Amino acid sequence: MTATLNRPEVGTGRVVWFTGLSGAGKSTLASVLYDELTARGVAVELLDGDAVRENLSKGLGFSKQDRDTNVRRIAFVAGLLARHGVTVLVSAISPYAETRREVLSTLPNPTEVFVDAPLEVVTERDVKGLYLKALAGEIPHFTGVSDPYEAPENPDLHLRTDRISVEEGLRQLLTHLGYGA
Ligand code: PPS
Repeated sequence: MTATLNRPEVGTGRVVWFTGLSGAGKSTLASVLYDELTARGVAVELLDGDAVRENLSKGLGFSKQDRDTNVRRIAFVAGLLARHGVTVLVSAISPYAETRREVLSTLPNPTEVFVDAPLEVVTERDVKGLYLKALAGEIPHFTGVSDPYEAPENPDLHLRTDRISVEEGLRQLLTHLGYGA
């Protein structure tokens, strides 16, 4: 059987990597995709920024070096799972383009999803109240405020979450991944 990028083959793992600013909607989209794929009987695992930092990357901060270490650790685990047939959903800011390129190039069937909302929108949403603190200078190295976010130039999927609903984002993800809506 021939494997193609968009048509999942039973037993073939893949990694769907959600990158974007805090509050852009990475975890929301990854989580609805997780639920939908689970309901369809797909072996799926979610590596979410906050949970990873509580466990695998406990103690790491937000310097470039620590973020890169975090991203490489996530990629390492994602790669192990994907090689055993799991569809792995990664949700992490992963702000550095070169590091993303590096890790994605090592992963089986990688899909880079740019979860994009303008800074004004995520600041307005401020789901966790972090932007208010970051803008007040209380959180150093905050992505998009006092630390860089290098947007993907050529993502596999670009979702503008300020323009589309979660349902539409999910539909586009399923279509792109070859599952149909
Ligand atoms: S990274 O850059 O990929 O290592 O970041 P990640 O592991 O995804 O962690 C991002 C979450 O950590 C919280 N947080 C911060 N984000 C950005 N910059 C700074 N300085 C920072 N400090 C804490 C924030 O809640 C991020 O969660 P999300 O889910 O992205 O909103």
